[in-house]
Amino acid sequence: MNYYFITGSSKGLGKSLSDLLLKDSTNIVYGLARTCSVKHERYHHTTIDLSNLDEVLNYDFPELEKTDKIVLVNNAGVVGDVKRVGNIDNQKIIDCYSLNLIAPAILTNNFIAKYGSLDGEKIVLNISSGAGRNPIDGWNVYCSTKAGMDMFSQVLKEELKIDGSNIKVLSLAPGIIDTDMQVKIRGAAKEEFSNIDRFIDYKKEGDLVAPDITAKQVLRFMTEEGLLTNVLCSVRDLTN
Ligand SMILES: NC(=O)c1ccc[n+]([C@@H]2O[C@H](COP(=O)([O-])OP(=O)(O)OC[C@H]3O[C@@H](n4cnc5c(N)ncnc54)[C@H](OP(=O)(O)O)[C@@H]3O)[C@@H](O)[C@H]2O)c1
Repeated sequence: MNYYFITGSSKGLGKSLSDLLLKDSTNIVYGLARTCSVKHERYHHTTIDLSNLDEVLNYDFPELEKTDKIVLVNNAGVVGDVKRVGNIDNQKIIDCYSLNLIAPAILTNNFIAKYGSLDGEKIVLNISSGAGRNPIDGWNVYCSTKAGMDMFSQVLKEELKIDGSNIKVLSLAPGIIDTDMQVKIRGAAKEEFSNIDRFIDYKKEGDLVAPDITAKQVLRFMTEEGLLTNVLCSVRDLTN
């Protein structure tokens, strides 16, 4: 069996990815989010607030049998408080770093400790963002968390290589997706975020990609051997 752990499985990209994976009867999906919206006999939900690090520390990965493939998708994320440094709500800084960067680090640490020596293919797929690779004003915390996720993934890859481990790791920028995160971005104040008109235009001009389409692209990175080699990757790397 193939086992997929997906954070943020209740909506947006995480829900589309869960729905897509569940179409294959050899896949079992474990979803983690504050709400549950996937109902399926092969879907197991854990209600968890991943910005609360005590809850993250208390999450136990289950015992698994007959493991052909085990994948952790660190997908849950928020853009946070879109404001200039100096104006940001401090609790939102803590929550955004916790959810976007510290929770994925803890989950990955526990995932590798628990499943590292089991049979089968193992993948850690971190959902990053182009925002971790280019500075965007008003998004200091978000950009920093995604840059941190990229570096976390690169260091992990070095360690796995030195240890001769067969675990694969990717930090994937998924492109711009038509989800609630984009709604939140369009709702920011112009004086805090100089790029807001560009993001309003993305929606108006139909440039945002439906999450079901992005989910199919993300699935390719978990299944095509040639796409599992570059730790820092983007759906824009796909040529077909
Ligand atoms: N949308 C884009 O254009 C875009 C671009 C680049 C990268 N990304 C990345 O793609 C990933 C998915 O984003 P999305 O656009 O699909 O966002 P979304 O539609 O807002 O969904 C976010 C998911 O994260 C979960 N989540 C949020 N806060 C949580 C918390 N405290 N604890 C547990 N789960 C939490 C939500 O579930 P609950 O509310 O039920 O907890 C939801 O399932 C994120 O990492 C994002 O940074 C998105």
